[in-house]
Amino acid sequence: MKDLFSDNNYLGYRFPEPQYLGAKFIHRGWIAKYIPESADTVLDAFGGSQSVAYMMKQLGKRTLTNDFMSFNNHIGKALVENPSITLSSEDTNLLFAENSNPEAFNLMESLFTDLFFTREEAAFADSFRSNVSKLDNPYKQSLALAVMCRSMTRKVTMGHFAHTQALNYVAVSLLPPCCSLAVSLLVSC
Ligand SMILES: C[S@@+](CC[C@H](N)C(=O)[O-])C[C@H]1O[C@@H](n2cnc3c(N)ncnc32)[C@H](O)[C@@H]1O
Repeated sequence: MKDLFSDNNYLGYRFPEPQYLGAKFIHRGWIAKYIPESADTVLDAFGGSQSVAYMMKQLGKRTLTNDFMSFNNHIGKALVENPSITLSSEDTNLLFAENSNPEAFNLMESLFTDLFFTREEAAFADSFRSNVSKLDNPYKQSLALAVMCRSMTRKVTMGHFAHTQALNYVAVSLLPPCCSLAVSLLVSC
């Protein structure tokens, strides 16, 4: 994945903090100390949350990032490769509209209701997903998918989907619904 950014708006953006074990987000300062100033190009071959690749972009390095998991790949496309495309209020209205194809987009509600999400939240994820392809630009589509993925991992304690107690933890952590988390991420982009 090659970076193509053409302006420097991204310098002022704050990376949306990943909340799972193993993310290098909190170690970015330490990692940066070991990147030689003379290095023009850096490669994060296993980009994960993309927080390190994004830092490299902010440091002015030509940044190549990669990850074979689709959601991580979309975060890289949205935040590292993306030249300067953002989501407009028309785009977000489109994403927050009702499910455009409930027959095809119901996986979250049918599989994960009362496991990781309430029915309302799962249905919201399905309807948001159903509208992503209506965005007319691949970077916008990746931004939308990145926002939704980050909202969902924020909702589930430490971003781990390998246990069945997510809703119990959420009850005590008083996190807002996925829909509100997505809105707050869109506002901070
Ligand atoms: C420990 S995570 C990276 C964490 C990342 N440094 C961060 O701070 O978020 C490792 C990543 O490598 C990716 N990965 C593993 N094997 C890979 C492969 N053969 N090709 C591309 N990506 C791979 C995984 O999908 C995962 O996201």
